[in-house]
Amino acid sequence: MEPIFETNRVILRLFEPADAKMVQKLAGHEEVARTTLSIPHPYPDGAAEAWIERTRQAAENGEIYSFAMVKKEGKSLIGCVSLRVSKNDNQAELAYWVGRPFWGQGFATEAAQTIVQFGFDELQLNRIFAAAMTKNPASYKVMSKIGMKYEDTFPKHVLKSGIYEDIVFYELVKTENLLS
Ligand SMILES: CC(C)(COP(=O)(O)OP(=O)(O)OC[C@H]1O[C@@H](n2cnc3c(N)ncnc32)[C@H](O)[C@@H]1OP(=O)(O)O)[C@@H](O)C(=O)NCCC(=O)NCCS
Repeated sequence: MEPIFETNRVILRLFEPADAKMVQKLAGHEEVARTTLSIPHPYPDGAAEAWIERTRQAAENGEIYSFAMVKKEGKSLIGCVSLRVSKNDNQAELAYWVGRPFWGQGFATEAAQTIVQFGFDELQLNRIFAAAMTKNPASYKVMSKIGMKYEDTFPKHVLKSGIYEDIVFYELVKTENLLS
């Protein structure tokens, strides 16, 4: 059965083909693409459809769980939260984006908290980590708000749009999981 979660204001479910247009619109916003590594800008036609197909397969294989954040009220898609699992190490990378109109309302925090719990409780992970560009304080604020600990900063660690970006890492190890 497909995993599905409910938070106070949001339902987290796997992406469906019908989400494609909204994914293209929200993820394709320049301010969302700017601080993520895997989101292209401009977002090409057809890319969301292909990504959704891949992501559903990846969830079935237990490799990546990408959940659509859907507002309970109105049922609109507002973002994405995901866990990329490294089965050999029993760990996963947490990542998220929220559509620009929905920033600053606690949605990423709410969704990330729930997915981290899923990672520890159901996937039995030992460690969950997350990375953000140092120029993206909103992202590492979310990490800190859900109890992740600052790990390290790596200067000029990734190349995005021709610029080497400094990256900050946060982590949560099972024994330190303050959420349980
Ligand atoms: C990062 C992102 C997911 C946050 O989503 P969100 O739903 O707005 O996050 P939340 O509202 O749960 O929390 C954001 C926190 O950052 C804070 N914040 C926002 N901008 C900030 C800034 N420039 N400096 C410091 N804190 C900031 C907010 O005040 C909030 O903290 P608070 O609840 O203590 O007030 C969203 O900005 C986004 O999608 N960005 C583009 C994609 C991206 O960068 N994804 C992460 C890749 S690592």
